[in-house]
Amino acid sequence: MFTETITDMKTNHQELKNWVAEIKDLTTPEEVIWCDGSQEQYDDLCAQLVAKGTFIKLNETKRPNSFACFSDPSDVARVEDRTFICSRKKENAGPTNNWKDPREMKAELEPVLRGSMKGRKMYVIPFSMGPVGSPMSQIGVQITDSEYCVVNMFIMTRAGDRVLKVLGDKGSFVKCLHTVGAPLQPGQQDVKWPCNPTLKYIVHYPEERSIVSYGSGYGGNALLGKKCFALRIASTMAQEEGWLAEHMLIMGVEDPQGEKTYLAAAFPSACGKTNFAMLIPPKEFNDWKITTIGDDIAWIRPGKDGQLFAINPEAGYFGVAPGTNETTNPNAIRSIARNTIFTNVGVTPDGDVWWEGLTKEVPKDIIGWNGKKWDPASGKPVAHPNSRFTAPASQNPCLDDQVENPNGVPISAFIFGGRRSTTVPLVYQAINWSYGIYAASTMGSETTAAAFGEQGKVRRDPFAMLPFCGYHMADYFNHWLQFGRDLPAPPRIFNVNWFRKDEKGNFLWPGFGDNMRILKWIIQRVKGKASAVESPIGWMPHYSDIDWSGLDTFSKKQFDDIMMIDREAWKQELLSHAELFERMYDKLPKEYIFMRELMLSGLWRSKEQWKLEPEAEYA
Ligand code: OXD
Ligand code: MN
Repeated sequence: MFTETITDMKTNHQELKNWVAEIKDLTTPEEVIWCDGSQEQYDDLCAQLVAKGTFIKLNETKRPNSFACFSDPSDVARVEDRTFICSRKKENAGPTNNWKDPREMKAELEPVLRGSMKGRKMYVIPFSMGPVGSPMSQIGVQITDSEYCVVNMFIMTRAGDRVLKVLGDKGSFVKCLHTVGAPLQPGQQDVKWPCNPTLKYIVHYPEERSIVSYGSGYGGNALLGKKCFALRIASTMAQEEGWLAEHMLIMGVEDPQGEKTYLAAAFPSACGKTNFAMLIPPKEFNDWKITTIGDDIAWIRPGKDGQLFAINPEAGYFGVAPGTNETTNPNAIRSIARNTIFTNVGVTPDGDVWWEGLTKEVPKDIIGWNGKKWDPASGKPVAHPNSRFTAPASQNPCLDDQVENPNGVPISAFIFGGRRSTTVPLVYQAINWSYGIYAASTMGSETTAAAFGEQGKVRRDPFAMLPFCGYHMADYFNHWLQFGRDLPAPPRIFNVNWFRKDEKGNFLWPGFGDNMRILKWIIQRVKGKASAVESPIGWMPHYSDIDWSGLDTFSKKQFDDIMMIDREAWKQELLSHAELFERMYDKLPKEYIFMRELMLSGLWRSKEQWKLEPEAEYA
């Protein structure tokens, strides 16, 4: 009986108790378990997952306290087409979100949720997004019937009793309901990865600050603190309350004098955010140091004097495994050395993990992500392209020492970037806040086959928030514009593109650690210590403004090529913004039309391609 579990509850929070009781009545689980966040509970759940066959315990010497698992083939990524923003009014969700009337959605979900946890245990996870008790943090409570989800939430958030304490009897919290949508009949054997292969819902009620996720056990669909709460729901809170909830990494850059500058950077999914957030500078820059606050999400608020401060609401990394190796991201390799959960990677005969790019050779007799011995002749990858590691941030060797600072870290610049093989130069600085916001609003990225089907198509992904903004995208643009107007000295805004290619399809820029060269210029610009030249799209570094020590192979000609502004391509680029603007014409910031015209007229001034000239004027 439910009344028995009420006495187990470590809370007097009536609204929370009522909600847990209501969900128990609706979903009819076998048992209700409150998650205390302890190591014992984590270990116990992992042991249960091993016993069930969901987790494979990895070799204790090679990968201590770590596990691998394979998902159902139908459940491998976020499901954008099944993600809904159910605001009361359709125009509040805007043209880039799927909308449904909240009453209709609730009526549709009620029969779906009824009895959905039958035969399973229901876990209640109180969690804090951000340092526990920080004025910048928010509390959520996730109800789930997935043990996999609980242990991942323990890594990705600060979860358990300490959060209930801060919540007290009356604190507000975001209600996050999750079920894999696979009830068990009496005597029915469970599968290793329960989910609903045919029906999924990821539903947000922004006005109610609640989330319902049905049918998936994977990543952002199931770990509701991440994309659902920290971005979609938090972005609506932020708009109302005057702050920012962003799809951004936060990093510290310490110069040789020991002065640290913090930056926040937005890149669409699959553009190497985790690699950038943990960058190791080339050895010629060993007196510079990079530290990580976060690799995916930033919550940002202005302090009293208008300085912006940011926290990372998460406590772990849910990183893409393929491509991660000792060269691309040594700090990630250290971070996943132990206490890590691997999902959909390959498993070697000696109980370790492998994915494409980890080493040159595929280990012999490897088990692929489908759980079967991998056949080299199959032409299929060993690891799923969206396979992941879940690792505690505390294991990152370059974790910033301010990561638990309840007041956040000061942000001095924003960086935006996408994956563009043509048109967009390596780096430029926006002329001012409005132009920076325009560029971020019209940011595009080429889709990778892994992520969004058709390869190489430019998908407009404003602020890298297209799948994550919980309200009308044009209202979001206006929020950013106004946010900057209210700041006495808004941070500088930069755009980068690490992915430009030559005509033969080769990347023009080495990337990874060498991105430090661009970061150095950015930091110096912020401090007013570096010069720049004006181009038709913004301020650019001259070749001599970049520190090339240790990269003599990168010639001035190569730099000119990667910085070149092809006027025709840029005209097309600007004209193509119309497609995005038309979709949100009724709320689009009026100045965007004029800014686009001004940039177009600047490009029309000459037929020549714009190149960095030695005599160009410096600012
Ligand atoms: C992520 C994403 O998983 O952006 O972080 O898709
Ligand atoms: Mn992300």
